[in-house]
Amino acid sequence: MAKFLIKGGRALEGEIKINGSKNAALPVLASSILFSALGGPASGWKNIIEIENLPNIEDTKRMKELLDKLDADGKIDYEIAKKFRASILPVGGALARFGKVSFPHPGGCVIGERPIDVFLDGWKAMGAKTKLSENVPTDYVITAPEGLFGVDYTFKIPSVTGTEALIMTAVLARGTTILRNAVLEPEIKYLADFLNANGAKIAGAGTTTIKIEGRSGELLKYSARFTAPPDRIEAGSFAILGALLGKNLRIKNFVAEELPTFLALLSNVGAEYIIENKDLIFINSYKKTLRASNVITKEFPGFPTDLQAPFTVLLTQADGQSLVHETVFEGRLNYIQDLNKMGSRITLCDPHRAIIYGPAKLFGRTMESPDIRAGLAFIIAALIAEGESTIENIYQIDRGYENIDYRLCSIGADIKRV
Ligand code: EPU
Repeated sequence: MAKFLIKGGRALEGEIKINGSKNAALPVLASSILFSALGGPASGWKNIIEIENLPNIEDTKRMKELLDKLDADGKIDYEIAKKFRASILPVGGALARFGKVSFPHPGGCVIGERPIDVFLDGWKAMGAKTKLSENVPTDYVITAPEGLFGVDYTFKIPSVTGTEALIMTAVLARGTTILRNAVLEPEIKYLADFLNANGAKIAGAGTTTIKIEGRSGELLKYSARFTAPPDRIEAGSFAILGALLGKNLRIKNFVAEELPTFLALLSNVGAEYIIENKDLIFINSYKKTLRASNVITKEFPGFPTDLQAPFTVLLTQADGQSLVHETVFEGRLNYIQDLNKMGSRITLCDPHRAIIYGPAKLFGRTMESPDIRAGLAFIIAALIAEGESTIENIYQIDRGYENIDYRLCSIGADIKRV
């Protein structure tokens, strides 16, 4: 099993570019199921769409494998689906297209219970019937014997992939669907704009009410490619590195409008940065004293839960007492015990809240990456620590960040993949 050996304490300088967004690319890949093949609607829909700037990461590879194995029987590959949460994304399209779909409870990051009730409620409202497998109660079979029809549906919990999945289902349904209490994450608008460019009629993406004119089963015809935008979570993670270790560090492709609350908090802790067009620049942040600050994770435009772990690492270097309140997931602070073994002083109050006392000197240790974002947080912790750290289970990190070791080494980090 590959691992990272990381030597800490070095300044980061030069240029680093933000790669294509995982969470924007995954729904667009999954939407390929809504398209007819160039030669007709038979079964040749696979690989029909073109994506530029697609990140070469484990999760996009898994999505492609999943779609390659999917056929008109609507069976989602169970082994692959259990490797990532986004495996739920093609389910609605497969149901609308083939009239039936079977899949396991999706796997992915262990950051909370992560039920799929809002998806199931949505498909049921559109006319589908769900059966749980008798042998494995977490395996689902959903059928739509009468086809799917447009509905007026309100999300009881705002869900990112829930909103994406129901948009895709509604595109092939009969009649108009209205989705209320939809999330505002930029990835929703990227998906809707791509589908609209290829003939769908989706209005209101980027607001809480989205209206989709269904096509009664008529597949989309591919004409316009998708360019994956820069990954806003990678952007925020690099900005945290810049605030801790940057010396003339330039982060290229930074879309500030997609990280408003994050940037407000970065200023609040005293990080100094310059935004020049699409570059975020840290002139001399290396070992600069930062101030404590409180963070509450929220849906967009709030502080992203996916940046909570990296920002907690930053707060270990801030002077004073900070509170981190994770409101989106109930299991996303588990990495803290490992940070404390490195020397941080963090009290876990309950599964949602942690108090950080800083600044604390961190020392290199061996850790196992529990999920994509905590894994990146461990890389940041190792880069600011004294001595050498080992990070195991780096498959989790490779799921979301392309060649992260190579790219961080290019700005002065000391990371070896062994
Ligand atoms: N929820 C339910 N029932 C559902 C669906 C969600 O109770 O049927 C709850 C979740 O348990 C959670 C909350 O609703 O407490 C919000 O979860 P959401 O559904 O929005 O999360 P997601 O769609 O599963 C996406 C990203 C995550 C990111 C969250 C929140 C993708 C592929 N995943 O997950 O990204 O943390 O939105 O922004 O887009 C990551 O990239 O590392 C990652 C975990």
